[in-house]
Amino acid sequence: MFASRSSVLLALTTLLTLFSTIDASPVERRRNNQDSNLVLNQYKVPTTVGASTLPTPTGTLKAIALGRGTQNYTCSTASGTPVSVGAKADLFDVNPLLKSITIAQGTQLLNLLPQFLLNFDLSLVQRYSIPVLGYHYFNGGGQPMFDLGSTGFLVAKKTGDIAAPGDAYAGQFGVGYGAVDWLNLVDAGGSTGISEVYRVETAGGMQPPTCTAAGPIQVQYAALYWFYQ
Ligand SMILES: *[C@@H]1O[C@H](CO)[C@@H](O)[C@H](O)[C@H]1NC(C)=O
Repeated sequence: MFASRSSVLLALTTLLTLFSTIDASPVERRRNNQDSNLVLNQYKVPTTVGASTLPTPTGTLKAIALGRGTQNYTCSTASGTPVSVGAKADLFDVNPLLKSITIAQGTQLLNLLPQFLLNFDLSLVQRYSIPVLGYHYFNGGGQPMFDLGSTGFLVAKKTGDIAAPGDAYAGQFGVGYGAVDWLNLVDAGGSTGISEVYRVETAGGMQPPTCTAAGPIQVQYAALYWFYQ
C-alpha cells in the first residue's frame, strides 16, 4: 500500500502538522471540542466484515481513539504455539483530525490511520503532539482495561469477535502474521463513564503460528477503538 518509507514519512508529517494545529486559546479549544463532539455523533463504527457482524452499539459514542502498541503472547517452550497474555497500547485522540472535513473524508481517514501509524515505532509517535486520550492494558487478573481519564474507565469483557478482513494490514510495512480480530467488549463490572468498546480496522498484532524460543513475544499492532456509554 505504501510506495516507500519516505512517502510514508511525508504523509505522517502532514498528518502530524494537522494534529499540531489544534489551536490556541482555551475558548477556541472549548469551541473546537464542542464542534468535534457534534461531528463525532455522526460517525458510525464499522461492524461488518464480509458476512460477519459485531453487535450494533446501543449507547452514545463518547470517543474514538487510535490504539498503538503491542499484543503480547508467551511461549512456555521452544516448540508449541504462542498463547495470548494481553496487550498494551497508547490511545491517541482522533477528534482534532475530524474538524473541517466531511464525514466521508473523516471515515476514510480513520480507517487508514491504524495501518499507517503501525509503521512507526510507538516511541516516535509519542514524541509528536498527538493528544493522548488514555491507555489500554491488562490487569493482574487478565482483564482488558481502558483508562480514558476524565472520559471514563472500562473494565472489559469480550462479547463479539469476528476475523479482520483478508486484506487487512498484516504487520509493520505490510509484513507479519496478520491483523487481530475485530472485537466488541462490554463492562465486566467496575466501569465508569464507558460501558462498551469496539476494536476495529486492526493492523498487525497476530502471533506467529509456532514458537521458536521460550519466553514473551510482543507483536506490534494498531487499531481504532470506539467507546460508548
Ligand atoms: C505487554 O507488552 C508491553 C510492551 O509493549 C509491556 O510493557 C507489558 O507489560 C506487557 N503486558 C503483558 C500483560 O504482558
